Formats: sequence, structure tokens, C-alpha cells
Amino acid sequence: MMMNVLLLGSGGRESALAWKMAQSPMMDQLFIAPGNPGMKAYGTCVAVDWKNRDALTHFCTAENIDMVVIGPEDPLVAGLADFFATSPELSHIHVIGPKAEAAQLEGSKDFSKEFMRRHGIPTAGHRTFTSDQLEEAKQYLATIDAPYVLKADGLAAGKGVLILDNLADALREMDAMLGQAKFGAASSRVVVEEFLEGIEFSVFVLTDGKDFMLMPEAKDYKRIGEADQGLNTGGMGAVSPVPFVQDHVKKEVLTQIIQPTIQGLAHEKLDYVGFIFFGLIHTAKGVKVIEYNCRLGDPETEVVIPRVEEDLLPLFVDAASKSLLTRPMAQSQHSACTVMQVSGGYPEAYEKGKPIHGLDEAIDGVMVFQAGTKEVKGEIITDGGRVLCATGMALDPAEALEKAYARLDQISFDGAYRRNDIGVDLGLR
Ligand code: AMP
Ligand code: GLY
Repeated sequence: MMMNVLLLGSGGRESALAWKMAQSPMMDQLFIAPGNPGMKAYGTCVAVDWKNRDALTHFCTAENIDMVVIGPEDPLVAGLADFFATSPELSHIHVIGPKAEAAQLEGSKDFSKEFMRRHGIPTAGHRTFTSDQLEEAKQYLATIDAPYVLKADGLAAGKGVLILDNLADALREMDAMLGQAKFGAASSRVVVEEFLEGIEFSVFVLTDGKDFMLMPEAKDYKRIGEADQGLNTGGMGAVSPVPFVQDHVKKEVLTQIIQPTIQGLAHEKLDYVGFIFFGLIHTAKGVKVIEYNCRLGDPETEVVIPRVEEDLLPLFVDAASKSLLTRPMAQSQHSACTVMQVSGGYPEAYEKGKPIHGLDEAIDGVMVFQAGTKEVKGEIITDGGRVLCATGMALDPAEALEKAYARLDQISFDGAYRRNDIGVDLGLR
């Protein structure tokens, strides 16, 4: 069966997904909305806005779309999968991405914490406060020790988590979040969490809501500065596999976290077709869940997907038709390492529109995935904070990293910045 597929998104994550799906013998036409110039190598970029439901319906009908793969969380939390399922013209289309109710695993911190509590899944202890409980929230903070972890309940583009070292700052931020809607509606509820200490990593599965396929694990580098200093970003690089995630750690993750999560979804009849991203922390008291995401990670996808050694499209069909089998996805023995090249100033203010040089060169075993780019008069220019990344692959992770860096050395734009220490903490460089 040949398929026409629409992929939603425009980042490095979607670039890696497009690169992979385009190789499928089942792929007829791949459309990407909105995509980026780098993705033209894998399919047709189209200016269809997922928020414009009439335009989306028209496009899917006109192009005989068989499957929609939803990359980012916003459309999922906003109920795009539900729209497809309930629209008479679109309900035959396979959608990869959970319905809104299940997407709350990412869309509401309180929902995900309560879900974990119900199913005995290890995570930080927490209390949730609503805006009419500001005084109670502050009194509670005064009874616990630093560091204080405050999380806006809703989606806040990765900015809604604050970790504060002293009570005065925590009280002030609680005031700003609950009292003055610092993150808008997202902080009308605030979750206060126990602070966990350890090293973070992520595990991904594809699920149909009852069975799941385990994918390669990854570690990303969230801070802007080397040695994990400075502000949080979307992610500055990633590696897979993760050396400290040995078989016994994987087994613990599988039995204590993944299996109870999938069983919990099935038990609560939450309709989940798509990826689950388990953000985990390896603590002295075992592995715990920091967060769930209802999608793949970025830049984790840029190392996870290149290591997947089977065709995604038949697996997507199985997931959407709820006939997935629980087994690990076939994965390469090679390591993959990706390094992001970002605009100077990111994650704060940065300039756009800088011409990018060196995209036409190549190194064997390295892929460049564009993210914040656009094409103007045949020239590719910067158009976002995270501009592009290079993923190197090799049996030896050190070689994979060397290759990624060598490829980025060939690429330049005004103000380009990258971290030169990806993998160093893991002894890979
Ligand atoms: P989240 O959006 O919930 O993943 O949080 C963003 C980041 O904040 C995580 O990747 C961690 O580095 C940190 N973080 C979140 N929750 C905790 C916690 N309970 N203890 C320590 N660090 C945390
Ligand atoms: N790299 C972290 C995320 O995608 O949420």
C-alpha cells in the first residue's frame, strides 16, 4: 500500500522524521507543513496552517492524504487529533499523535502528576495550587527546603519551570505566576515539586495506547553554555545511546515506568496513538519521571531516528489501527551525536536573516537537519534561534561526535554559536 503523508512542523525533529519517512518504500508523496528549505530534499513543503481547519481539510482532501504525523505538542494539546477523528471528511486518515485528553500528559503538569500517582509511577512528590490559593501556596513554600521547583501547569514553551535557591525568590515567583499570570493561563495553576538530584536522560516509545515499541534512548544538553551553565534552551545537542543507561537501568525504566504508563493509559481509556517522551532522572533512589511529553524531543529525534533500523510507515499504520505489537524497535549499533548551531544571543534576543554558507558540502556519515532557516531568492538564511544541527554516526561515539563537529566547521553564518562540549560529561570526547 502506497501512502500520501502530511507531516506537521518545521524544526530539526521534523527534518529527521521527514528524512526517515522519505526512505520508506510505502511513501508515495510526502508533504510537510510548513517545513523548511532543508526538508525540500525529502518532500514538498506546503504553506498550510494547522490552525486553519478549513484549509487543512481542503488540503488533505485535495491531495488524498492517508496519514498525518504531528510533530510538535501545541496542535496535539489543542485537539488536532480529535478534529481529524470527528470530521466526516478526515476520519479515515491515520493520525500519529494523541487526542487532547491524553496529550494532557504534557499539556497539564497536574494531570501528569496525578496520573503517575494513580499508577504508582516514580516521580517527585508534588502539590498543586490554583490562583485562589496563593496564600496557601506561599505558606507551603515556607515549610519546605530549597531548592524550590515551581512549574506552570500548562504549556509555556519550555519556560514554565523555575528552580529557585532561596525562599524569597520562590515566594516572589509564586506571586508572579499564580497572582499575576506570569505565563498567562498556563500558570493559573502551579505545581510545586520536590527537587530531584541526578543525571537526566530520555526514553521514547511509539504506542497505540495498549502496546508499545521501545525506541533508542538519548541525552540532551539543555543549557546554552558549556558545562551546563546559563539559560535553558530547547536543546543544544544530543547523544544516543547513553553510556550509563545499561541493561539494568533499561529494565527498571521498562518495568517501573513504561509498562505502568501504557497500562494506565489503557485502564483509563485514554486514546493514545503516537510517541511518548519520558523525561527521566537517574537519582540515588532509582529512576524517576521528570515529565512526559506527547511527542518526540528536539534535538533527541535527530539522534534517535537515525538509529532506528526499520521502516516507520508500517509501524505508524499498526499504531493508528491499534494493532501494534510490544517489542523493541530495531536499532543500529552505531552511536549518533548531534550538535546544534544557533543564532548568537539565543535563547534571548537574536538576529535573523543571516546567509548560511557551507550547506552544499558533505561528510560521509553526517546528516545536516535544518530547523530555523528560510529561503529568500534562492539563498538560505537564518530564521530562528536553533538554526540547524549536524548528526554524526559511527560505531565509536567519539568518532560520531568528531564527524558532527567537522561538518559544523564547514557551515558558517554571522553570529553562529554552538557548544563544544557535547558528550564530554559522558566521557565521549
Ligand atoms: P520539565 O519541563 O518538567 O521537564 O522541567 C524542565 C527542567 O527542569 C528539567 O529538564 C529538569 O532539568 C528541571 N527539573 C524539573 N523538575 C525537576 C525536579 N523535580 N527536580 C530537579 N530538577 C527538575
Ligand atoms: N529537548 C527537549 C524537548 O524536546 O522537550
